[in-house]
Amino acid sequence: MPEVLTQTAPARVESTGKAMITSARIARRVHALGRQISHDYSGIDTPLVLVVILKGATVFAADLLRSLSIPAELEFVRAASYGSGTTRGELRLAHMIDGPLVDRHVLLVEDIVDSGHTVAAITRRMRRLRPASLRLAALLDRPARRAVPVTIDFKGFVIPDRFVIGYGLDYAGLYRELPGIYSLG
Ligand code: IMP
Ligand code: MG
Repeated sequence: MPEVLTQTAPARVESTGKAMITSARIARRVHALGRQISHDYSGIDTPLVLVVILKGATVFAADLLRSLSIPAELEFVRAASYGSGTTRGELRLAHMIDGPLVDRHVLLVEDIVDSGHTVAAITRRMRRLRPASLRLAALLDRPARRAVPVTIDFKGFVIPDRFVIGYGLDYAGLYRELPGIYSLG
């Protein structure tokens, strides 16, 4: 089960310096997810394909990959919104996927599901590639602003309605290097 955080988390990284989620807590949870994923996919006869959503999910994916005890391949997609004036649902997807995904077991790896638009759009595209299965691992779930329904098959933490940084998540491209997760406001 994902760990559910309450609204009592510290408000500002610069005023408290206290992590919403410490690196030790993240490590424990990611290892548990790795064990669960390895167990759930133990019967498949091809390596699991982790499709990592750039850039925020890279840190999570690196730790998750090393928590697996089953063979896994690593691929990447990048989602970018079209220029200004378009709706959020219109995403341009850059694939960095070497082989065909047809009949492969694919696990999307995302840092945080917020409105759900990003993951919903990527999922729609991935289904066209006819994988044998398609599931989602997300380190963080922030359900407060969900606009489209998303099923998160492997979930790290449920967080309150605060913007967060660290462990791969950025604010204006920065703070990805922080080992824990901090609230910005
Ligand atoms: P969604 O499409 O609204 O679900 O947004 C998901 C994407 O927005 C994620 O892939 C993140 O890159 C980014 N994002 C959403 N919330 C945060 C946050 O609190 N910190 C950093 N990035 C975020
Ligand atoms: Mg992202």
